[in-house]
Amino acid sequence: MPHRFERSLCIDDFATVNRRTVLRGLGTGAMVTMGSGLFGSQVWGTPVFAAYPFALGVASGDPAPDGFVLWTKIAPKPLEQGSGMPKRPVEVEWAVGSDARMRQVVQKGTAVAHPELGHAVHVEVGGLEPARDYFYQFTIGSERSRIGRTRTLPSIGAPLAQIRFGLAGCQKYEDGFFTAYQRIAEEQFDFVFHYGDYIYERRVLRPADRALPVVRVMPGDPDKTYTLDDYRNRYAIYKLDANLQGAHASTPFIMSFDDHEVDNDWAGDTTEENTPPELFLLRRAAAFQAWYEHMPVRRTLLPRGPDVLAYRRFAIGDLLAFNVLDTRQYRSPQACGGGIKVGCAEALEPQRTMMGETQERWLYDSFKTSKARWTVLAQQVIMMPNDRDPDPKVFAPSMDKWDGAVAARDRLLAAVDAAKVSNLVALAGDIHNNWAGELKQDFKDASSATLGVEFVGTSVSSDGDGFDINDTFKARMQQQPHTKFVNNQRGYVRHTITPARWQADFQVLDKVTIPDGRMSTRKSLVVEAGKSGLLEA
Ligand SMILES: [Fe+2]
Repeated sequence: MPHRFERSLCIDDFATVNRRTVLRGLGTGAMVTMGSGLFGSQVWGTPVFAAYPFALGVASGDPAPDGFVLWTKIAPKPLEQGSGMPKRPVEVEWAVGSDARMRQVVQKGTAVAHPELGHAVHVEVGGLEPARDYFYQFTIGSERSRIGRTRTLPSIGAPLAQIRFGLAGCQKYEDGFFTAYQRIAEEQFDFVFHYGDYIYERRVLRPADRALPVVRVMPGDPDKTYTLDDYRNRYAIYKLDANLQGAHASTPFIMSFDDHEVDNDWAGDTTEENTPPELFLLRRAAAFQAWYEHMPVRRTLLPRGPDVLAYRRFAIGDLLAFNVLDTRQYRSPQACGGGIKVGCAEALEPQRTMMGETQERWLYDSFKTSKARWTVLAQQVIMMPNDRDPDPKVFAPSMDKWDGAVAARDRLLAAVDAAKVSNLVALAGDIHNNWAGELKQDFKDASSATLGVEFVGTSVSSDGDGFDINDTFKARMQQQPHTKFVNNQRGYVRHTITPARWQADFQVLDKVTIPDGRMSTRKSLVVEAGKSGLLEA
């Protein structure tokens, strides 16, 4: 299959070059020459580890019709600075199989784990068949990783009967067990979209710090994260969670980030700490490097200093135009200083933005040409108006959401309306509740046109057990007719999409303060293609 190697040759500028595959394309002679010339003197030749080097698990992500990214990070002592690794590159073998036991290996190669990236490995595999399961494994010396399952996307534009994905995020370690990820692993999804808050940057909470139970105390008493090593340590603690590892090993993840990968409620180059922007950007660069090191994302997402090009589009058969948005890096500073504000005039200023001009144009241009049945805005913060005050006379929105940049929301929905985008579905997270609602042409007029729907997924663990609903949530929902559902428990959202129907199942746990909480479907809502609005399933 020569095309397989041609594809690999195109990606030979990646940090973790698939050397063997590339070199096979060039001929065996080249393999020997390049193999010894490039890395011969520096590579740790016969690694022997003091502990299991795949302690952080494996992952796959950014699926395409012909491949995906395979990820691991060599870390025999994940909680130590340097992860117990020597400061030199090390070669890691990888293999992709067509069966769960890796009997039929369809591709294999060698990647280099560089100390500059904390010995993270990102292998971009191409040349595979669309819409099917694959399995993968890493080997280093005599050590083998677990076998992960992943899946390619269907061919772009090809008729697709159904796709299933999970929506998850907000996984505060101290607040609860990651039982939602155990259930996600059982789903065998086509993919998971993670909207962010994969880690929390704050000082680790101790039981005396607050009324809410501190379910898990982090090892080592880590403080707030500022440096690359701080962030690396935080990711290592999270990545050691068996349920999280199980979910990653079950399906490819499409990763995004929200605020807590860097700092609470950061916006562009500003933060609530009022740090000078040029200093905050140093911290952002450290945070983004650690994020890249731990995420199964493509080389195009390698940070350039404090910048990451994280907005991107996945064309999924003829069903989905799946737009992953970045509502953090290019947005205006928090209006009126951020937080929940009543009557903030700055939030209404016309120049305010959530995506920045370039990303807006990239998105709106795609509306004009998209032929996909469903257009998805996979993003971070709630888009529809969300009043935090139960008093109907008081509108008290959070400035950190699209409510803090009303003109940006207006421009987006105007572009949707102008391009006659049918079947618009926005996804969000961030607020640690489940919400579902309708995106209205005029949110103040319940009879105005519905331009799309929004599903806000709850947290995996952040804010602890929660509860189904109380009077405050009831009042907040009733005074906002565009909201159709709210629930304050932990879990994830399962989305099942066909040409005719989008179904969202809100999967909730009775408890996350115990390791074996019970999961149930709290609500199933449906959108019928061609008809705007939410229906009960
Ligand atoms: Fe969160």
